[in-house]
Amino acid sequence: MAFDQAEFITGATRIDNCPEPTLPEICMAGRSNVGKSSLINTLTGHKNLARTSNTPGKTQQMNYYRIDNEFFLVDLPGFGYAKVSKKERARWGEEIRIYLLKRQTLSIILHLVDARHEPTALDQEFFFWMGTHQKPFSVVLTKADKISGNKLVQSVRRVETLLDQMNIEVPVLPCSSETGKGVTDVQSLILDFAKEPIT
Ligand code: GTP
Ligand code: MG
Repeated sequence: MAFDQAEFITGATRIDNCPEPTLPEICMAGRSNVGKSSLINTLTGHKNLARTSNTPGKTQQMNYYRIDNEFFLVDLPGFGYAKVSKKERARWGEEIRIYLLKRQTLSIILHLVDARHEPTALDQEFFFWMGTHQKPFSVVLTKADKISGNKLVQSVRRVETLLDQMNIEVPVLPCSSETGKGVTDVQSLILDFAKEPIT
């Protein structure tokens, strides 16, 4: 099991369209443009498996990728995407909340935050919400190539402190899809969770 084989399976616009829950799932959550789709490409060593864009709101479905026939990586639409109607945003918000709470085979949520910025109010609400529901998650700080090593250490500490204040203890992993820095740490974490038997 080493991210050798990656295959796009389906794009679900509703939870009902998700594949049969037969494999563990690892999903990518976070603001639009934070680098969720890029991370899927980097993790799997493919340039264009998941579509990425400079324009926020590129991913508008729950895109399922099957890795090594062992687990699914799920690329979620970014939250806070402003270019769809309010009603559509609310529907997606609700749909994703239900997915995160109810999907039996969901092993871990990777919540992505841009390493350059402080987690937004929405990010913080999300941490709190996952903590309250005792959902396994990890914070991945993306675009680490855009700041110095010192600043990156500060960013990691800032997020750790925030989580600490919420009594949440989860890994905070910096990485860059551009340079590959930190990506093996994210892969190891994913493999650890993908090995857990699904209930
Ligand atoms: P939505 O699908 O809109 O939710 O966005 P997303 O979170 O999937 O972001 P995406 O992967 O499409 O990346 C958005 C932009 O950030 C693209 O222009 C990427 O090239 C860029 N990007 C993503 N990761 C990195 C990174 O690690 N370093 C740098 N420098 N740019 C990155
Ligand atoms: Mg995307």
